[in-house]
Amino acid sequence: MALLNILHYPDKRLHKIARRVEVFDDRIRKLVADMAETMYAAPGVGLAATQVDVHERVVVIDVSETHSELRVFINPEIIWSSKEHVVHEEGCLSVPGIYDEVERAESVRVRAQNEKGETYEMDCEDLLAVCIQHEMDHLMGRVFVEYLSPLKQTRIRNKMKKLERAM
Ligand code: NI
Repeated sequence: MALLNILHYPDKRLHKIARRVEVFDDRIRKLVADMAETMYAAPGVGLAATQVDVHERVVVIDVSETHSELRVFINPEIIWSSKEHVVHEEGCLSVPGIYDEVERAESVRVRAQNEKGETYEMDCEDLLAVCIQHEMDHLMGRVFVEYLSPLKQTRIRNKMKKLERAM
């Protein structure tokens, strides 16, 4: 396994749209394993392939405190969303140090494939629901800060550029 480099906002590559995974081979299984290792090391609760500059529809999530519930979502689709919405303070490994409130569906049902290509459905609630919606946005080239006001986005971009220069 290997740690992957995480792209930082406002890197343009974070806005690429990921394509579907068609072949479930060792390459995809290695990508999933490396993404999980990278997420745990960061540490974070979710990572989309877009964030490691791989533009394919692959997401890993583990919202457990013990890092023992790795969930792999390949080609995820939201097939149902609750009418109820919740506001949650989100953060992102691609926007380190920034946390802000985003409104999303309270619960969603997701259809996805695992690393063997088997299709499954999962009902996601609470943090898992927030997380899968956040990660699926990444696959569409969207970073959570884009939900914030233009003023906040400008501030965050400037902060990130400063941080990047300091690194
Ligand atoms: Ni993120």
